[in-house]
Amino acid sequence: MKNLMVTGGCGFIGGNFIRYVLTETGFSGRIINVDKLTYAGNPESLDDVAKQFPGRYVFEQVDICDAKEIDRVFNEYGIDAVAHFAAESHVDRSITAPGEFIQTNLIGTYTLLEAARARLESFELFHHVSTDEVFGSLGETGAFTEHTPYQPNSPYSASKAGSDHLVRAYHETFKLPTTMSNCSNNYGPYHFPEKLIPLVLLNAKEGKPLPVYGDGMQVRDWLYVRDHAVAIWTVMQKGGRGETYNVGGRCEMPNLRVVEMICDLLDEMVGPLAGHTSRRELITFVKDRPGHDRRYAIDCSKIQKELSWEPEETFATSLRKTIQWYLDNPEWVKHVRSGEYQNWVKTNYGNRN
Ligand code: NAD
Ligand code: DAU
Repeated sequence: MKNLMVTGGCGFIGGNFIRYVLTETGFSGRIINVDKLTYAGNPESLDDVAKQFPGRYVFEQVDICDAKEIDRVFNEYGIDAVAHFAAESHVDRSITAPGEFIQTNLIGTYTLLEAARARLESFELFHHVSTDEVFGSLGETGAFTEHTPYQPNSPYSASKAGSDHLVRAYHETFKLPTTMSNCSNNYGPYHFPEKLIPLVLLNAKEGKPLPVYGDGMQVRDWLYVRDHAVAIWTVMQKGGRGETYNVGGRCEMPNLRVVEMICDLLDEMVGPLAGHTSRRELITFVKDRPGHDRRYAIDCSKIQKELSWEPEETFATSLRKTIQWYLDNPEWVKHVRSGEYQNWVKTNYGNRN
């Protein structure tokens, strides 16, 4: 891998992945970050690495559905590997407007796969970043393995499931060298505040209501974003071609508990809110998400046993680190919450009470 295309590198996980690869792995090649810059894309998040690694980090504002432009980027930089993060990623938005999800997640993935297939002789690896949501919802027990049948329930997870199938098919049919990872919920720095953890921590800091969908007893598995970046890089380096790996934090928690932990940590870190004994008083139960998956849990024994990957962080310590990052970076928060973000808050929460 000399010229690695990272799609969606201005987003949350792609950005953290680029930072990790450039600063910690000894990777000596070049990273070409291809991002359309949707509402979720922030090139400023990588300004420091761009300065620190001149020439080794390049940004191209390109839509992955644009076959001509993708072809140009492959040729111009001699792309020999892809780490594919770009996606429409927010489940609630896929319920309000599914079209972009079908475009980017399905057509975009297809466009990239075609560009790689056209260069089969020199192409080394297509890594597809996917989600545990493709497996659907679990009952009280059990965990998703790599063999769990797909049963996506939202337009988002259905579009990701379709993209997973395309990646698998390009390996089986065309022998494209691929790897894939299906990961649980991430959290950490640069997380767009439409997602539960950054939304709740910023609202709690500011004394705004904390919207909990339904009864708040839906269970998610949480993984610190750097641990996910390490897992992806591990799979890219050591994973079997054509193989898929589940990635998770072995950290299942009901949403309500996550929200309470954020309230308690903030009370401790910045002091209580005026007029309140605890930020938990801000918790507001609102109308549930349609088709809301009840429980996710990940069996990640394959990546642990075969590739020796382990999450390094615990939820309590890295949640504290995450909160501290948001407290230390008010300018980033202000920037991403301007403009489109305000419209989204009105659309999603306006009629939820
Ligand atoms: P994000 O929404 O924060 O970032 C997505 C990035 O993709 C943005 O920079 C956006 O501008 C870019 N993008 C969107 N459409 C594009 C297009 N057509 N062309 C080029 N760029 C485009 O997403 P994220 O949370 O960082 O997720 C990254 C990947 O990881 C996604 O594939 C997602 O399905 C997967 N994933 C996310 C999580 C999670 O907890 N966030 C967990 C498991 C898997
Ligand atoms: O499981 C991996 C997935 O995790 C990724 O594939 C997705 O890209 C990512 O967005 C995330 O999806 P979720 O739907 O689980 O994340 P979200 O932060 O939107 O919601 C987490 C849980 O919290 C979910 O059960 C819904 C609930 N929730 C969310 C929001 C935004 C609330 O109760 N209130 C809220 O305001």
